[in-house]
Amino acid sequence: MRSFAGRDILSLKGFERAEYFRLFEIADRLAPIARDRRNTDLLKEKTLVTAFYQPSTRTRLAHEAAMLRLGGKVTGFSDAKMTRAGDFYQESIKDTVHMLEYYGDAIVMRHFQQGAPAEAARWSSVPVINAGDGWGEHPTQVLTDMYTIWKEKGKLDGLNFLLIGDMRMRTMHSISYAMSQFDIQATYIAPPEMSLTPEFKKELDELNLNYREVDQVSKAIAEADVIYMEPVVQPDYTKSRDERKGDVGMTPANYQVTKALMKKARPDSLILHSLPRMDELLEEVDYTRHARYWEEAFNGVVMRMAILASVLGAME
Ligand code: CP
Repeated sequence: MRSFAGRDILSLKGFERAEYFRLFEIADRLAPIARDRRNTDLLKEKTLVTAFYQPSTRTRLAHEAAMLRLGGKVTGFSDAKMTRAGDFYQESIKDTVHMLEYYGDAIVMRHFQQGAPAEAARWSSVPVINAGDGWGEHPTQVLTDMYTIWKEKGKLDGLNFLLIGDMRMRTMHSISYAMSQFDIQATYIAPPEMSLTPEFKKELDELNLNYREVDQVSKAIAEADVIYMEPVVQPDYTKSRDERKGDVGMTPANYQVTKALMKKARPDSLILHSLPRMDELLEEVDYTRHARYWEEAFNGVVMRMAILASVLGAME
């Protein structure tokens, strides 16, 4: 297995099965620190640079919290408009990264352009972590999600995933790559204009992912061990900001998870949603035994601790 030390985390394509378990094991070792709200000095000599060209609540702050829990420092920006990349100069990724690499020991980047973190990694002498790139991928979120499922179910092999929402979403791409490393049956359900593209289906076929598409959630809910959701009422992920203007519409019932729908689900099925949500996941579901998105949120800090400790060479 490849070492994580010094490695970029850009995509889950090519991420090997054993590498998931290695990160899960490191996450398990670090979880008590986060659970007990303690800080350690594991990364006390290290600084994380955050370069967020698109809004984020969870991903940026979970990386920052993880770094602080491990005794490291954080610098960076959360609004590229206040940098030279976002003003008159439109400074390139290459030039920006040639600066950022001297300000810290790892860079976590969210960008509205697919492939921007990979472009950054070409020029950076320190590891680059993809915190979501356009419609591309969101590897640290999906590592969090797979860890959450593994913790809750005690396994990944043999599970049946029902994926509901916009299949253009970066999490849907990353989780599809992740599922292909396990004996997982995937069922996708999306509005026709947001369904899996022929190009992506070709990739899934090449990865031997066991999957199908259905048009009605009621056709698949009873078999699902894991219900993995994304909104279908979405901003444009190719923009640096997409302000809400006027009525954005409602989620059609077929892509909503409600308490009534969960009556048809397996009693031990889990619901994951990386959040934020619109009206596809009603608040009434929060109070059912199926909801695991708050555990997912906690694990978001733990998994980022594992990733930072690993790429910064503090844990193998
Ligand atoms: N899940 C997620 O990526 O959330 P943020 O956009 O708030 O980071």
